[in-house]
Amino acid sequence: MPNQDYFDLKKWFEETADERCEEMGAFFDRRIEGYEDHMSAWQEHYRRVAELIPGSTRSILDLGCGTGLELDRIFERLPDVRVTAIDLSETMTAELKKKHGGKNLEIILDDYFLHDLGENRFDVAVSVESLHHFTAEKKIGLFNNICNALKPGGIYIECDYIASCPEIEELAFSECRRRRERDMIPDGEYIHFDTPLTLEHELEAMLKGGFERAEMIENINGTPIIIAKKKGSAA
Ligand SMILES: C[S@@+](CC[C@H](N)C(=O)[O-])C[C@H]1O[C@@H](n2cnc3c(N)ncnc32)[C@H](O)[C@@H]1O
Repeated sequence: MPNQDYFDLKKWFEETADERCEEMGAFFDRRIEGYEDHMSAWQEHYRRVAELIPGSTRSILDLGCGTGLELDRIFERLPDVRVTAIDLSETMTAELKKKHGGKNLEIILDDYFLHDLGENRFDVAVSVESLHHFTAEKKIGLFNNICNALKPGGIYIECDYIASCPEIEELAFSECRRRRERDMIPDGEYIHFDTPLTLEHELEAMLKGGFERAEMIENINGTPIIIAKKKGSAA
């Protein structure tokens, strides 16, 4: 049964039906002004993601790092940790460099679906509020790359928007398809349009991507924090 969120979303899609699609990187480039204030409602989520990282962690991969709001908290806890942070927005990553350029931080301006993440390199991977724009099929490939990039026993921590019922997932993907077709967006070009999966489908994609286990650890105001573990034991 669709819930109230479904009817609210449906109404919002109707109200915004004529809005043009915006390319993903350009969308974030244009919103850098005021971005961190806009995200201040997520302080608790950033703090918890940082707290869930084991104290022994030496290397972290951050997918869709933006201006580094999760990294602000992570560097507070682990000031010397080595971070590889990937994002496709030039202005967001420029802001990250301004804040944390002095840290042990490699910033990669690229698409995390296409970038070679390597093998057995990281103790921990994180992604906050970035993956809710993609299909399960695309995520399975990425989760597989993340899993391979982690050391045995490594963990992936994801904090992201999910669809609170299957009808929301279906509605968002169908509206996204409609707008893409209308605006003649070529296949493979990313647009900023939220298409979250249900928690069940998100966890399923992680397992299909090769993780041994995936479970929701917490739910803060409707947003889950998921930890997926790669097979093996951490060194
Ligand atoms: C809502 S922001 C979240 C940024 C940061 N994690 C935070 O919580 O403030 C989403 C970020 O994901 C990035 N992003 C989206 N798709 C991406 C992709 N395919 N490859 C790399 N970065 C991507 C965007 O450029 C944007 O900076």
